[in-house]
Amino acid sequence: MNFIMCALFILATLSCGFGQRSNNFTQLRMFIMTSGIKEGISFHVYEKVKDKIVKDYGNHTLGINEEFDWKFWIGIGEYVRGDFWLADKKNATISVFNFDVWKHCYNGNLFKTQHCYWKVHPDGFYLSKHNNTFPEGWVFKHPWACLVEGI
Ligand SMILES: *[C@@H]1O[C@H](CO)[C@@H](O)[C@H](O)[C@H]1NC(C)=O
Ligand SMILES: *[C@@H]1O[C@H](CO)[C@@H](O)[C@H](O)[C@H]1NC(C)=O
Ligand SMILES: *[C@@H]1O[C@H](CO)[C@@H](O)[C@H](O)[C@H]1NC(C)=O
Ligand SMILES: *[C@@H]1O[C@H](CO)[C@@H](O)[C@H](O)[C@H]1NC(C)=O
Repeated sequence: MNFIMCALFILATLSCGFGQRSNNFTQLRMFIMTSGIKEGISFHVYEKVKDKIVKDYGNHTLGINEEFDWKFWIGIGEYVRGDFWLADKKNATISVFNFDVWKHCYNGNLFKTQHCYWKVHPDGFYLSKHNNTFPEGWVFKHPWACLVEGI
């Protein structure tokens, strides 16, 4: 079987043969890092299904140029949200992992752990498949929104 056939076979087997929440087919290591942020950030990453948190990857704080990473199994329809706070000034809720992020970061080999990088900047959130020196390869994805009007 060539690679594509093999990948399709695995997807089909996993999506038909198992229950909805045990359709893991590869692992991903997600990195969240700060850059250029003076105050640091705090955030909560989790997976929600119909208003219920089904997987909680915890609450974290990062200072200047720090990073947090974790590895998780991904299945079909996996969707990880992140609520972020920049001091008391700004916040944002973003899709830390969804199908678009998957397409962006897919390394071509389902049998290897995928890597994906978020860089949190004063102006918003950037995504990259590699930990390149900023800004090479980083794509701007979301701005911050103000918590308090006028900031
Ligand atoms: C993280 O914080 C949120 C909001 O305060 C809370 O609902 C959630 O239970 C916390 N998760 C963990 C793992 O502490
Ligand atoms: C699938 O992922 C869950 C956590 O999301 C893990 O507990 C479970 O062991 C994984 N199953 C397989 C077959 O790897
Ligand atoms: C990403 O790159 C920065 C700058 O080169 C480095 O300090 C950091 O340790 C790297 N992090 C990872 C997870 O590779
Ligand atoms: C972000 O701030 C807005 C405006 O104050 C608020 O409505 C929203 O619930 C906040 N989101 C989070 C995740 O704290």
